[in-house]
Amino acid sequence: MHEFKYIHKQLYCEKLKVAGLAEKFGTPLYVYSYDTLVGHFLKLKEAFKSIKPLICYSVKANSNLAILRALVNQGAGLDIVSGGELFRARRAGCPANRIVYASVGKTDYEIKEAIKSGIFFFNVESFPELKNIQHIARRLKRRVNVALRINPDVEPKTHKYITTGKLTNKFGIDFQSAKRIILLARGFSHVKISGLHIHIGSQITTPEPFVAAITRIIRFILVLKKEGIALEYLNIGGGLGIIYDRETPQTAARFAARILPLLKKSGLKIIMEPGRFIAGNAGILVTKVLYVKNTPKKKFIIVDAGMNDLIRPALYDAYHNIVPLQRTENRKQEAEKADIVGPICESGDFLAKERIVPNLEEGDYLAVMGAGAYGFSMASNYNSRRRPQEVLVNKDKVSVIRKRESYKDLIRNEL
Ligand code: LLP
Repeated sequence: MHEFKYIHKQLYCEKLKVAGLAEKFGTPLYVYSYDTLVGHFLKLKEAFKSIKPLICYSVKANSNLAILRALVNQGAGLDIVSGGELFRARRAGCPANRIVYASVGKTDYEIKEAIKSGIFFFNVESFPELKNIQHIARRLKRRVNVALRINPDVEPKTHKYITTGKLTNKFGIDFQSAKRIILLARGFSHVKISGLHIHIGSQITTPEPFVAAITRIIRFILVLKKEGIALEYLNIGGGLGIIYDRETPQTAARFAARILPLLKKSGLKIIMEPGRFIAGNAGILVTKVLYVKNTPKKKFIIVDAGMNDLIRPALYDAYHNIVPLQRTENRKQEAEKADIVGPICESGDFLAKERIVPNLEEGDYLAVMGAGAYGFSMASNYNSRRRPQEVLVNKDKVSVIRKRESYKDLIRNEL
């Protein structure tokens, strides 16, 4: 499932030439493939069809309304982490009973809005938060479903900033405390702890960390059962990695083959929260070469997209494949090492370091691959740069799903 491919040396997104989109809409430009996006969701659904999980796409990966709508229309639920994401989820037409809400720092306002809209689950990350939800729910005279987010203390072997299931991370509750909280919460009138939640990290490329975490959770479910506590749902979070470089792909089928037996053993209904797996390879960032600069030590390809448009290389040292929209033979022979950098006034503003690139010239277009997840959603206006335009391609049709910001947009809320 990859709808970005070369046909006669030209990069296509589905049936459209990406260079044509760059000419038409300008750069930097995010281009998404509808087929790839929806295809990944359907693959996951198919792989787990024997247990019919509720697949809640993680909004933070790419929160554009058109992206959310495309997935919601296929039956996806949504995983949110803020009042803003709740607003988007509702705007995208997601039924409230398919929305789950995590975050270590939900405010009273956010909790109130989420209760009023009738979301399916709060994934609760601490005892004070649980008490607060109980308090607010009582005032609103509503009873809410809660899943305790467990921190299973496993090593997901990913970047430290996206590791979330170790006891040194701020997320979730350790097993011992969780048991205490569950017993205490039996006396709470307006929250019902009917599930457990885990999310151990992101861009996890092997099944072992998932297996370890789920195994621990199942052991815990059995301990609770012995105490007479029955749960209904297990939310296994997201975290499935994708191919950026030379990772071995964790296909939906291979992932399912390893964890399905465990999930069945849990006896609970399953929720999952994939983000990157669905959106990551469904989007690219198209950028144009502004200048080629040679210094005594290095070659720099200066492009019109910067760390404000795609922060992953700067923040996580993330690798993104970067390819020309048009391949030519002789360029290959002249390939050499260069840094691909943006226009922002920071040395951390790079898309690639020491990368073998074809001999590029001013005006050439490049595609930064795998930019569909945590690309636009992490974009900023740093250096007073307008955030890029986003377009969605469906076969031979292209829709603008977010206009390029204007200079006026930059100062809109300033007084
Ligand atoms: N559920 C929860 C509670 C999460 O915190 C996350 C992501 C997900 C699900 C979705 O995880 P995914 O399936 O996408 O791995 N900005 C970073 C990734 C941060 C992930 C944060 N949490 C990056 O660009 O690599």
